[in-house]
Amino acid sequence: MEFVRDLLVFLHLLGMGTLVGTFLIALRAKAAEVNKGWLHGGALQLITGIALMALAPATGAEYDHIKLGTKLLVLVVIGALAMVFTARRANPGWLTPALGGLVVLNVGLAVFW
Ligand code: HEM
Repeated sequence: MEFVRDLLVFLHLLGMGTLVGTFLIALRAKAAEVNKGWLHGGALQLITGIALMALAPATGAEYDHIKLGTKLLVLVVIGALAMVFTARRANPGWLTPALGGLVVLNVGLAVFW
């Protein structure tokens, strides 16, 4: 089970990398539409994060559920913003810094809380 947890953490960190990479691309590209990387990276974080949490009894990990709930809430805001503006085919100037800021907030919550 330790390997499963390691694998999920590995994918969770790659998902974080996807989100940070998307932020850097979106900053430079200033595209008219929202980059799909926000949704792909966000989905990976959601799946791997919830799997880590759900498997905690089996992997022996102990997590702070308030911390994980807060991270989940931040990720829901990221996903909602990305989905709404993808559907509207709009990419306002504040969106990329807002999404990037929320990703950095979740990295901070993961590490410092
Ligand atoms: C933008 C979204 C997210 C980012 C950037 C992110 C980032 C991270 C990072 C950097 C770590 C490693 C921290 C460390 O080992 O010190 C981590 C661990 C973890 N994250 Fe996330 N996370 C996100 C969303 C979520 C969500 C939504 C959940 C679940 C509800 C979640 C559950 C976890 C768990 C359980 C761990 C601990 C893994 C372990 O070491 O056993 N994460 N996250």
